[in-house]
Amino acid sequence: MSDIILKNGDALTFLKEIENESIDLAILDPPWSYNSYGQFPNRNIAYQVVSDSYLEESLREIMRILKPKSHCYLFTTNLRLGKDIPLMEKIGFTYHQILIIPYKGIKLGYGYRHEFLPILFLSKNGSSVTNYHNISNLFRPYSFNTLGKPLPVLETLVKQSSKEGDTVIDPFIGTGTTAVACKTLKRNFIGFEIDAERYKEVEIRISLRIGNFEEEV
Ligand SMILES: C[S@@+](CC[C@H](N)C(=O)[O-])C[C@H]1O[C@@H](n2cnc3c(N)ncnc32)[C@H](O)[C@@H]1O
Repeated sequence: MSDIILKNGDALTFLKEIENESIDLAILDPPWSYNSYGQFPNRNIAYQVVSDSYLEESLREIMRILKPKSHCYLFTTNLRLGKDIPLMEKIGFTYHQILIIPYKGIKLGYGYRHEFLPILFLSKNGSSVTNYHNISNLFRPYSFNTLGKPLPVLETLVKQSSKEGDTVIDPFIGTGTTAVACKTLKRNFIGFEIDAERYKEVEIRISLRIGNFEEEV
């Protein structure tokens, strides 16, 4: 059994209540104002977004609560990479890799198209990064949007960077993909969501998952 703790409210406020060095893995998919083509700002964005200073403060809290040598994944966009890698290094994370999820299907438009979503793979205090399997840093293409990320990708990240019984945090749970992956893979989970309706949907998604692990709901 794993403990799944979901809280409805502001991520940064909750992060500040977590004990130092108590978390084994952090996965962050922050509410950027970019759309599924990687372009931003997007006026039709489906959720409340956070500022760069808010994000930096949250990442400093993540650094504080992670156990030494733990891993951290930051979902970003190719338009943000230039500032996210230096930001993470400034906070003290060790940057290891960029993982790529290609978008399924051809994007229409002009110029170079945004055909992938990058995920930064980092660790606290230069992990030896030996506890994961050799796999490609290129995932297979998926259809997805800014809100719900592909469950197989989250399952891979959780499997690669934690073991059964570990505690994983995702401060911006959205549709709860990381929580579902943790439930299935028997990791404890802590996550936050500011939107009350979305939060309730995640609670339902997780409780259904308890009854039926095979079916994605
Ligand atoms: C990009 S989505 C996460 C998607 C998630 N990875 C998934 O697969 O469904 C970001 C989420 O953060 C939520 N959010 C925005 N501001 C927040 C805040 N201050 N505290 C907690 N959650 C917040 C948004 O409502 C949105 O659901």
